[in-house]
Amino acid sequence: MIILTVVGARPNFMKAAPIIAAINEHNEKVSANGAGRGERSAQTMRHILVHTGQHYDEFMSGSFFSDLKLPKPDIHLGVGSGSHAAQTAKIMKKFEVVLLTEKPDVVVVVGDVNSTLACALVAAKISFDSAGSKPVITHVEAGLRSFDRSMPEEINRILTDHVSDLLFVTEQSGLQNLQNEGISPDKIHFVGNTMIDSLLTFKEKAETSIILDKLGLRANAANNGGGMSISRYALLTLHRPSNVDNRSAFLNILDGLEELAADWPIVFPIHPRTRRRVQEFGLQSQLGLNGAAAAKSDAARSGGGLRNIILTEPLGYLDFLCLMKHAALVVTDSGGIQEETTCLGIPCVTVRECTERPITIESGTNVLAGTQKEKIRGAVRRQMAIKYCDQRAPEKWDGQAARRIIDVLIGTYHAKTSSQQSLILQACV
Ligand code: UD1
Repeated sequence: MIILTVVGARPNFMKAAPIIAAINEHNEKVSANGAGRGERSAQTMRHILVHTGQHYDEFMSGSFFSDLKLPKPDIHLGVGSGSHAAQTAKIMKKFEVVLLTEKPDVVVVVGDVNSTLACALVAAKISFDSAGSKPVITHVEAGLRSFDRSMPEEINRILTDHVSDLLFVTEQSGLQNLQNEGISPDKIHFVGNTMIDSLLTFKEKAETSIILDKLGLRANAANNGGGMSISRYALLTLHRPSNVDNRSAFLNILDGLEELAADWPIVFPIHPRTRRRVQEFGLQSQLGLNGAAAAKSDAARSGGGLRNIILTEPLGYLDFLCLMKHAALVVTDSGGIQEETTCLGIPCVTVRECTERPITIESGTNVLAGTQKEKIRGAVRRQMAIKYCDQRAPEKWDGQAARRIIDVLIGTYHAKTSSQQSLILQACV
């Protein structure tokens, strides 16, 4: 079986890494036990990793390959940035050539970025031969819905789910959403969350990160035997177009964080989109920066505007995981971080009007604040007051999601090949 996995943008890497690790584990087991015994699971898989290049620089892509021990991509499409249409179209054109050359049995797409939809769409319309053979399209993290179609990711999720053959779901709401949309239940599998597989794999290793020292977040603990303790700090990420592409929306969020910044330092690894907007909208002083030079520096401590903000470049996986683990509070508009903080038991405030990950609110540590400054202030205040968070991982967020996916892929592939063989036999009789 040939499995081709697509990655393109930062949130894809940690979702794909455990799948590749599970394929390697499967192959090692087969080699150790000896192949060719006729059992369906006794064959090795060939894996091809395709990087579309949607995210391309060291901060947004390169460092994740080393942190997550991802293999070098076999094929790099090098598409880079562009409008949604231009980026999606570029990926589609280049990916079609890859599919026609490699003819994989399975195409795995993860998450909800433009690369996810572009590659699923190409695979849905491809035909490898006159009989119309095509790969099994597999969507990992299927079924999530924000019910806000102004989000590009929502369009990507809906369309990807509807052209996929296998849909791997992370939480119960996903099952319900897909059922409501009329997707056949035999395509849907509730397997858990591969991003949490990565988190559980690398949680301990994240302790080797020196990011806390680099940012000056360790303090002398006088009442703790004189050792070093970690300062109380908040961690902030903002990059949603609806939050940062409009000056007054962006300013409103920064205003909502004023009280927090007065009490605790806020570490803000700034996404390239957000950095560009800060400069374009002249918001340097709100972030305590003195112009463009400061905005470029690796870690700039602020003086004015929001007090005590620590700006950094986007961080690698292990550094960011270390910062999440030790934060007193996380404020974010990211999807994945809502899940990671739930699993780590860290209070999270989501600066959005809706979430496609309701489990993080129902049984996790997340609260949805909306985007109005008063609401953000209220949510932050409530979450700051929490002394202890129960660490209850949602159902099946146990580090085994990728293994479950590989089991389903093996079963599906063999069912497909045996039915093809019996069709050939019938035709011969
Ligand atoms: C994309 C995803 C979003 C995900 C986010 C994580 C879509 C629709 N959006 O949004 O779901 O949460 O990634 O980061 O796919 N840039 C760089 N270096 C890079 C990559 C991008 O500087 O390596 C800059 C580009 O100039 C680009 C901007 O960042 O214009 C935004 O990148 P883009 O891939 O268009 O979308 P994101 O906002 O990153």
